[in-house]
Parts: sequence; structure tokens; C-alpha cells
Amino acid sequence: METLTVSLGSRSYPIFIGAGVSKDAEALLRFLSLPKVAVISNSVVAPLYLEKFKETLRGAGVDVLEIVLPDGERFKDWQTLNKVFDALVENSCERSTTLIALGGGVVGDMTGFAAACYQRGAPFIQVPTTLLAQVDSSVGGKTAINHPQGKNMIGAFYQPKVVFADTDYLASLPQRELSAGLAEVIKYGLIRDLPFLEWIEANLAGLLEKDQSLLEHAVYRSCVNKAEIVASDEKELGVRAFLNLGHTFGHAIETGVGYGMWLHGEAVAAGTVMALELSRRLGWVDRISLERVKELFQRAGLPTRGPDLGCARYLELMQHDKKVVNAKLRLVLLKRVGEAVLCEDVPLTEVSQAIEACVGRE
Ligand code: NAD
Ligand code: GLY
Repeated sequence: METLTVSLGSRSYPIFIGAGVSKDAEALLRFLSLPKVAVISNSVVAPLYLEKFKETLRGAGVDVLEIVLPDGERFKDWQTLNKVFDALVENSCERSTTLIALGGGVVGDMTGFAAACYQRGAPFIQVPTTLLAQVDSSVGGKTAINHPQGKNMIGAFYQPKVVFADTDYLASLPQRELSAGLAEVIKYGLIRDLPFLEWIEANLAGLLEKDQSLLEHAVYRSCVNKAEIVASDEKELGVRAFLNLGHTFGHAIETGVGYGMWLHGEAVAAGTVMALELSRRLGWVDRISLERVKELFQRAGLPTRGPDLGCARYLELMQHDKKVVNAKLRLVLLKRVGEAVLCEDVPLTEVSQAIEACVGRE
């Protein structure tokens, strides 16, 4: 087992990583303020893991309310969030009732946002069950729901009390979801950790075969990177934006084709290729590096081209990006592989050409 800390003063919290970490009742109990919790999960994860998780808690004398949401990105909305509030109110949950997210990034983001809002702030715990959630979304306190016109448009920065990244859960993860998680793992290598990128390239086959120790290392090293960035820039005033490499393009893909059609990690992969193509056009990343990254995504089972929504539609959707300031698009690009940069003044013609070069069939 590995333990890391997200250092945020009095709101600092640990991340426990490894096989079985969420079955440690004593460890869980240490983070509960009341012997009552609400576990929020979904219709795919609950049949697999909720009963066992409840047993662990009940064995330790904890009173458990379960809230099972419909599965999928298209339910990351107000109506579904309201179901959480209804259940919390109907069951007389108090401000100190801990909300526990047992699921992937959708459940985690929604539970976090529900916790941020419920009675103006209830404690919450992340128990991420996808690779993507273990390496990224469960850490750092970004919580949100989608708006029909933009991904994660309604939300709050609200940190969990603890993250239990139990790699046992990854055993049942479909291969397509594993690949989607790898997109965010690769991201850390691209923006700031070249040795990690080389490690991923060397160990990709084992990761795709779900080798436990390789997955544990991938989660650990990703969380090291994420925890460092979040500790230095919690509210994304600077370097945290680097974590959005490929996301401005990727969010446009997710919204443009309809939530849930492309997985988040798939959209991030295709969006990252667009960001690298743009970086190449600006004279930073060379063609060999671009091909290297495309090859890695392809080997990971990820798309390297986006859907052809039309350039104008991409640009329209990208205007809803949360990095936009004074109606100005800001994009995370690469100076070189392993070094990200935030750009404010990229000509829209260059952006359009980069998009054109990376959509539709090759
Ligand atoms: P997800 O939550 O939809 O999970 C993917 C699928 O796998 C779902 O069908 C889910 O039910 C299923 N699943 C979950 N765990 C499983 C398991 N152990 N075995 C079998 N099936 C399992 O998607 P995701 O990729 O985990 O997360 C994507 C979401 O995370 C997006 O909404 C994205 O915007 C968000 N996100 C947030 C942040 C952040 O910082 N908060 C960062 C990255 C992504
Ligand atoms: N996943 C982007 C962030 O946490 O900032």
C-alpha cells in the first residue's frame, strides 16, 4: 500500500492506494464524524461492490444509507443530483453525515458537488472504482455536473476528507474504460513527467493486461503529480490548468456528440492530439514527437482523431471552456513533450487548422 498527502493546510488529506485499501474498516472509521453515512453509487457499480462495502461499514457499527443513481455521463445533471438531495433530506441526514462516493468520476464529481451544497457543506470521502477516477478525478476537489451546453459548468472546488484508491476494483473494469483512464495517466507524462511517460511506454502491455503492481504504480505516480499541482494551485489560477491538456478540445467533443457517446478519456486523447498538432504548427513540438504520442494513444486503444463536427461548432463549444477569460480562449499546449504551457493569444486560424487536420477519417 502507498500513502500520499494532498497538502492544503487544515484541509490536507491522505490518498491510500493499493489492493484492498477500502476494506479497512478502522481506516474508514477514522474519517467519519458521525456513525451515519450516505454511500452514493450507481446501477453498475452497486451490484458489484456496494453490499461488500456496506458490510465493512456495518461491521464497524456504522449506519449506512445507500443512494444508487442511474449510470452514465448523461445523468451527470441537476435532475439526478436532486435525487441525492431528496434521499438525504428524506432520511434526515445532518450536516455532519459523511457522503461517500463509490464509483467512477461521474459518481465522484456528483457526490462531491452534493456534499459541497448539502446544508452548505457536508464531509465527503472518495472511493474511486475506475482507473480514471483513481488517477485524476477523485483527487483535487473539482466537483461538478454538466450543463447541456458545457461540461462540468456547474460545480464547486470542494475537497474530500480522504481518498481510498483500491486497485482491486479495477479487475471488473471494461477494457474500453481502462483505456480511457490511461489517457489521463499519459497526460501527466506529457505535461510534466517525462520519465513517467517513458515508463508508460515501456509498460503499456502490462497495464492493458491489468497487472496489479503496474496499475498500482500508475495510480501512485499519477497521484504524486496531481497532489503536487493541487497543493500549489488549488483553484486553478496557474499551473493547475496544465491538467487540462487536450480538455478544451475534448470537452467540445463530449458536448458536441452528446454526453456519453465518447468516453471522457477518449475525448481527451483526441483533444490532446489536436493540442499537439497546434503546438507543432506554432513551432514547438516536432513531428516525431507528435507521432510518438499518437502511437502511444493508439497502442493504449484510444482515438487520435476527433469527430467532424465542423470547425465553427468546435470553436463555439470551446468558448464555454472554464479557462476562457474576457471571452479569450486560453489553451494548454506543449513546448515540448514533458513541458506544458498556457497560451492566451493563439490565432483562431491556427486553432481551426489544427482541428481540421485532426478530425474525421485520415
Ligand atoms: P464513469 O464514472 O462514467 O465510469 C465509467 C463506467 O465504468 C461507468 O459505466 C461506471 O458505472 C463503470 N464502472 C465504474 N467502476 C467500475 C468497476 N470497478 N467495474 C466495472 N465498471 C465500473 O466515468 P469515469 O471515466 O470514471 O469518469 C469520467 C468523469 O470524470 C467525467 O464526467 C469527467 O468530466 C470527470 N472528471 C473529473 C475530474 C475532476 O478533476 N473532478 C477529472 C477527470 C475527469
Ligand atoms: N482534472 C483537472 C483538474 O483536476 O484540474
